[in-house]
Amino acid sequence: MRLADCHNVADFRKLARRRLPAPVFHYIDGGADDESTLRRNTAAFDDVDLVPDVLAGLETVDTSVEVLGRRIALPLFLSPTALQRLFHHEGERAVGRAASAFGTYFGISSLSTVSIEEIGATVTAPKMFQLYVHRDQGLNKSLVERARAAGFDCLTLTVDTAVGGNRERCLRTGFTSPPRITPSSFLSYARRPQWVFDFLLREKFRLPNLDSVYAEGSRTAMSIGDYFTKMLDPLLDWKAAEAIRLAWGDRPFCLKGVMSVADARRAIDIGATAIMVSNHGGRQLDGSRAPFDQLAEIVDAVGDRLDVICDGGIRRGSHVLKALATGARACSGGRLYLYALAAAGEAGVMRALGNFRQEIERDMKLMGVAQVADLGRNHLRPRAPTR
Ligand code: FNR
Repeated sequence: MRLADCHNVADFRKLARRRLPAPVFHYIDGGADDESTLRRNTAAFDDVDLVPDVLAGLETVDTSVEVLGRRIALPLFLSPTALQRLFHHEGERAVGRAASAFGTYFGISSLSTVSIEEIGATVTAPKMFQLYVHRDQGLNKSLVERARAAGFDCLTLTVDTAVGGNRERCLRTGFTSPPRITPSSFLSYARRPQWVFDFLLREKFRLPNLDSVYAEGSRTAMSIGDYFTKMLDPLLDWKAAEAIRLAWGDRPFCLKGVMSVADARRAIDIGATAIMVSNHGGRQLDGSRAPFDQLAEIVDAVGDRLDVICDGGIRRGSHVLKALATGARACSGGRLYLYALAAAGEAGVMRALGNFRQEIERDMKLMGVAQVADLGRNHLRPRAPTR
């Protein structure tokens, strides 16, 4: 299988599986507990059908949307994800270049493997910095200041990690950051000499946003679940979130992981300009509702007062159209570009985003809509139960 054979997210997933040692692949691919939320995040899109309007006489369509204070060329952007240089040695550098080429928002994680400053100086795409609030308040303050100084357009506070999710695949494979080869995973690493070469002989693995403060971040091997539980501040509450919003200042401020209408209203009260309706890609609370299932309720309650973003489960352009027709301002995702990064670095992410652009444009033409704002609930129907 080659990059040219990757026509959709499932193809990239297959190629990623071949390229990555099993513990790293399952860290990307897996979810919490029984993974029922992980599955539902994508399956939810199948419970709603699109109803097209034909004979619209369209040659071109405008896929751009305004979200998080910027106009982006695609209604889909790249959610912040941790540890990207473990998936391909170019990591965030490759993803940032692809986001710039497609004119869409690029999110980096607090646990990114390229620094805030380097991304700020080199990536021309609109940029989001994702904040994990640590127990060390000095670190939190400095991360916000660094993101601001580096010219990030938006600060996104992740609010669904009060403790680490129970990611059983990671427990079984022994995945840690940095990775440690164990007797049970030895063969899987040995079969992927290119990955081992890149990991051992290229730029050393680091979490550069954290390593001035925490040796743990870069050197002590720890599961991501343990990292959340030991390092993140369990006392994070609405008051603390508001203080972070004030420290960030007047640029767009987003809460990632809001799922209830009541919390969406509180987000407005503390001055958030956007929310990502998200369950962390099914990696935290298994049994949590899917973002797409919960979207209409939230759009109806707060959609006229902040940007509502549908995050997670998106694997097709038609999924994006269904979320936009429901009223999301934009969509975002992680695995949709991470498999591609692992499969083929920058060229992989370019191809994955190219596939999505084509699907979104093609589906808009087939739906008979010239611009994203023309999509509405009139284009959606609940799928009839199969007899
Ligand atoms: C994530 N996600 C995530 N979210 C966040 O706020 N900070 C982070 O560091 C990470 N890291 C991370 C790593 C990996 C490997 C994955 C798959 C996900 C969650 C991410 O931003 C997004 O919410 C989900 O990926 C959305 O689900 P899909 O698109 O992967 O189905």
